[in-house]
Amino acid sequence: MPTATSATVDIAPPRRYALNHVVLHWTIAFLVMFQLIFGHDMAFAFARVRDTGILGTSLGAALMHGTLGSVILLLMVYRLYMRISQPIPPPAPDVPRAVQVAGRANHWVFYALLIAMPLAGLAAWFGRSDWLGDVHSIASKLLLLSIAAHLAGAIYHRFVRGDDIVRRMAPGSADATEGRSVGPTGLERQ
Ligand code: HEM
Ligand code: HEM
Repeated sequence: MPTATSATVDIAPPRRYALNHVVLHWTIAFLVMFQLIFGHDMAFAFARVRDTGILGTSLGAALMHGTLGSVILLLMVYRLYMRISQPIPPPAPDVPRAVQVAGRANHWVFYALLIAMPLAGLAAWFGRSDWLGDVHSIASKLLLLSIAAHLAGAIYHRFVRGDDIVRRMAPGSADATEGRSVGPTGLERQ
């Protein structure tokens, strides 16, 4: 009995990140910068509540840090799901393979840190755990290093190579977010 024919169609990788990736990237980047800038207020609140058992005027800082950090956790879990279920643009062409691998590895470090860090923070806070607090603090230093490397990569692409890699994560037209449909020969379908 004849079955529905399914012609083999390869979908070329998209040329830029889809809008949902872009919105999440910049929302999370903003929240993370906020957490890093005001993190010491939480460290102060944590020390205070451990030493005296009361939060006093640190309540607002602790609530803000815990809430925004938890929002980052939820957004990152959703983003991870999107990352593995949607195609993304290929690594930057014409750069050494080692640089491509390092850039992609750094992206995965972000996923790992931005999921593990809030979990460690929550466990430290509710468990009043010094060592988990230390893990959280050390992770925040690693995160800073990853961001520095990420920024160096963006600057390298934009100002040294002058390519359009940075524009792949900038808000842009919807059509550029879609993969192009190509046939087996690699020619683009109309
Ligand atoms: C990705 C999200 C988060 C980031 C980027 C972040 C960042 C930071 C930073 C930079 C510090 C100061 C570290 C230091 O001064 O050495 C800090 C401290 C702290 N954060 Fe977070 N945080 C996040 C999520 C959370 C969450 C969800 C909680 C849960 C309540 C939390 C609880 C804490 C605690 C308890 C401390 C004090 C740790 C200590 O002094 O030992 N954090 N955080
Ligand atoms: C806290 C700050 C930031 C974090 C946590 C962060 C995180 C990430 C992550 C996880 C990815 C990989 C997306 C994926 O493939 O799943 C990414 C990609 C990207 N980010 Fe960021 N980012 C930050 C700041 C920035 C800034 C300030 C810029 C621009 C100056 C930037 C430009 C880009 C670009 C262009 C890409 C795409 C790279 C490519 O196409 O290979 N990011 N970022």
